[in-house]
Amino acid sequence: MITVKAGSVTFQNVRKTFGAFTAIHDLSLTIEPGTLVTLLGPSGCGKTTTLRMLAGLEHPTSGKILIGGKDVTMLPANERDVSMVFQSYALFPHMTSLENVAYGLQSSGIGKKEAREKAEEGLKLVGLAGMGHRLPAELSGGQQQRVAVARALVLEPQVLLLDEPLSNLDARLRRRVRTEIRDLQQRLGFTAVYVTHDQDEALAVSDRIIVMKDGEIAQSGAPRELYEAPASPFIADFMGEANVLPCEILHSNGTEVLVRVSNIEHRLQSRAGRGPAKLAVRPGSIRIGSASAEGLKGRVLHSAYLGGHVEYEVETDVGTLFVIDHDADHAHAAASDVTLAFKNRGIAVISG
Ligand SMILES: Nc1ncnc2c1ncn2[C@@H]1O[C@H](COP(=O)(O)OP(=O)(O)O)[C@@H](O)[C@H]1O
Ligand SMILES: [Mg+2]
Repeated sequence: MITVKAGSVTFQNVRKTFGAFTAIHDLSLTIEPGTLVTLLGPSGCGKTTTLRMLAGLEHPTSGKILIGGKDVTMLPANERDVSMVFQSYALFPHMTSLENVAYGLQSSGIGKKEAREKAEEGLKLVGLAGMGHRLPAELSGGQQQRVAVARALVLEPQVLLLDEPLSNLDARLRRRVRTEIRDLQQRLGFTAVYVTHDQDEALAVSDRIIVMKDGEIAQSGAPRELYEAPASPFIADFMGEANVLPCEILHSNGTEVLVRVSNIEHRLQSRAGRGPAKLAVRPGSIRIGSASAEGLKGRVLHSAYLGGHVEYEVETDVGTLFVIDHDADHAHAAASDVTLAFKNRGIAVISG
C-alpha cells in the first residue's frame, strides 16, 4: 500500500546568495498539508532555487526551512522526506518503467519483491497499469512524465516537488497532463510544490499561487484572488492581460470604493483610500455597447472575430482598451462609435 503523508512546509526568513548575487531575499511562506501550491514567476525570479533549497540540493545562506514541522535546514537531500519530479523526467533509459519506479525503493532498503509490488501500484495510480515492461523510449512524453510522478510518489514523501513538469511536452498534451497531476493530487491528498512560469498552468492546478519577482514574493493567494484582485501592475499584467487605467477614488469606507474613470463611476470592493489611483480591468470585464448607451465613450480601432468571441481595441480618452466580448452575434465594426461599461468582476484598484 502506498500511503500519503502530506506534510506542511515553512520557510522562515530564507536568504540565498551566490557570491555577491542575492537570488532569494528574506523569503517566508507556509504551505498547508494536502495542498498544491505553485511558485510562479518570470525566468530568473528564484523559483528553482527555492525548490532546490526545499529538496536539500542547495542550502540557505540564512533562515530556516521546516517540513512537517521539523527543522530540515541543514539536512541533506536524502534525509528530507521529499521527492522531486524533474523537468527532464530523469528516467534510466535502459530500465523498464517498473524498474525505474522500483529503483528508488530498493536503494532505500526495501526488499525486491515489496519494491516491485509498490512500483506496480504506483504505475496503476498514474494510469499505467500493464505498462511496467516498457522502456522509457517505448512510452510517449506524457507517459514518461507519469512514470516520473509514480517514481516520486512510491517513496511516500511528505512533499512532492515538481519543477516545470510540463515543459518537455507539446502544447496539446500539456493541458491533459496538468489535469492528471491535479486530479491525482486531489485524489490522494498529498502536499505538492509546483514550479512554473506559465500563469494559465498555475491558475489551472493550484490551491494557492505564490508569485515571485526578483527573489521576493510579489503576491500570494488563491488563483481567483490573484486574477481578480491583483495588488500591483506587475501581478495584473503577469496573471493575464489587463487594462491599467488612471482613476480617481471619490469615496472610500475601508471595504468599498467609488471610482471615477473619465465620465463613468463604478463601485467595487477595495480597501484603498481616496485620491488618484490605478484600476486594472480584465478585457472580459468590459461590456461593449452602441454609441447611445450609458458609459465610457470610445471608437473601435480594430475588431477581430475569433469564433467564440470578438476582440476589440477601443480608443477612449483614458487610453486604448483591449476588450473581449463573448457576444459574437452583435459585433461592432472598426471605426464605429461605441460605449464601454464595467462588469462587476475582474476590476481591481491597484497601487504602485
Ligand atoms: N548556482 C548558481 N550560481 C550563481 N547564480 C545562480 C545559481 N543558481 C541560480 N542562480 C541565479 O539565481 C537567480 C534565480 O535562478 P532560478 O532559481 O534558477 O530562477 P527560475 O527558476 O525562477 O528561473 C538567477 O539570476 C540565476 O542566474
Ligand atoms: Mg527554473
